[in-house]
Amino acid sequence: MTHLLSIADLNRADIEQLHQLTDTFVEVSRRSIPKVPALRGKNVVWLFYEDSTRTRLSFEQAAKRLSADTMTFSVSSSSVKKGESLRDTVLTIEAMGVDAIVVRHGSAGVPWQIARWLEDRVHIINAGDGWHEHPTQALLDSYTIRSERGSLEGMHIGIVGDVKHSRVARSDVLAYTALGAQVTLVAPPTLLPPSLAGWPVTVSHDLDAVLPSLDVVGILRMQQERMTENLVPSLREYTSLYGLTLRRVDTMRDDALIMHPGPVNRGVEISAEVADLPRSKIVDQVRNGVATRMAVLYLLLGQGVDKILDPGVPEEAPDGEHSDVSVTDSESSVGVTG
Ligand code: NCD
Repeated sequence: MTHLLSIADLNRADIEQLHQLTDTFVEVSRRSIPKVPALRGKNVVWLFYEDSTRTRLSFEQAAKRLSADTMTFSVSSSSVKKGESLRDTVLTIEAMGVDAIVVRHGSAGVPWQIARWLEDRVHIINAGDGWHEHPTQALLDSYTIRSERGSLEGMHIGIVGDVKHSRVARSDVLAYTALGAQVTLVAPPTLLPPSLAGWPVTVSHDLDAVLPSLDVVGILRMQQERMTENLVPSLREYTSLYGLTLRRVDTMRDDALIMHPGPVNRGVEISAEVADLPRSKIVDQVRNGVATRMAVLYLLLGQGVDKILDPGVPEEAPDGEHSDVSVTDSESSVGVTG
C-alpha cells in the first residue's frame, strides 16, 4: 500500500489487518511511555487547507507516538496567500525531503492529484477531500464498533443526518458494508445526495421507524458551512424530526451504540444529554482515532506489517542489528531500534 486515499481501495482483509494493527497501537497508547521508535527519521507533513481540530491533532499525536518528525503547513501564513498554486506548494514540500503528506482540502480528488504530481514518490494520506471521502474516520469508526461488539458482521447501522455534505458518511458506508454490516441512511430528501446509484444502502426519511432496529446509530453534523441554500426549513424543525433526543434513545435497543465523528452541535443533531450517555462512543472514537492513524502511518511508512502482527518471528535488520520495533511485546522490549 503506497497511499491511503479511499476506503474503496481497501478490501475486507485490508481493513481487518488495519484493525489488528490498531489493537497493537491501542496497547502502546496505554503504556506509561506511549511511544515507540518505529518511524524515527521519517518526516510527515500536514497540509490542511480546511479547518480541523481532532483530525489534525490526532494525526500529530499518532506521528509523535511513532517518533516521526512532523512539519505543519499552515495555509493562512503560507505562500498560498501570495498566489502560489497547489502544485508548486506540493513540489516545494517534496523538495525538502518528506516521506508522507497528510492532506485535507475542500475539493474532492485533491489527494489523488497530489499523488499523480509526485508520481507516487511520497505517501499521500487523505484526511478529508471535499464531500468525498475521509478514510481514517471510517477506519476509526469501524474499529470503535468492532472493539465494542467484536464484529460488524450482520449488524444494522444507521447513518443519520446531513449525508449530502458528508465525506464521513461516504467512507463509513464503504467500510461498514465491506465488513458485513447493512447500512440505512436516514435523512430528509434534501440532505441526501442527488443520486444514490451504486450505494450499497437502504434509505429512510423516518428516524423513529428505523431507530428500534439499529445496532449502531451514527449521527452526522449539520454541515451548515457547506450549505448554499436552505435545505431544511429550520434547525428547530430538523431537530424535532431527526435530532437524537433522550425520548428517541428510549426506543433504541438496550445495547445499541451512538456515534458521532465530531465536531458535535449539541442541541441540533444530538441533545447534550444523549451525547454524554455511556452508550455514546464519541470520546472512544477520538481515542481510537490516534491508534488508527498510528496504524495507517506505520503501514505506509514502517518496516512491514507481518513482523508487528506476528511478534513470534524475530527479525534481523540487514546490518545485523535488531530491527526497529516489537510493539506487541511488553514495555521492556520496546525501544530496541535499528
Ligand atoms: C468531520 C470532517 O471534517 O469531515 N469531522 C472529523 O473529521 N472528525 C465531520 C464534520 O466536519 O462534521
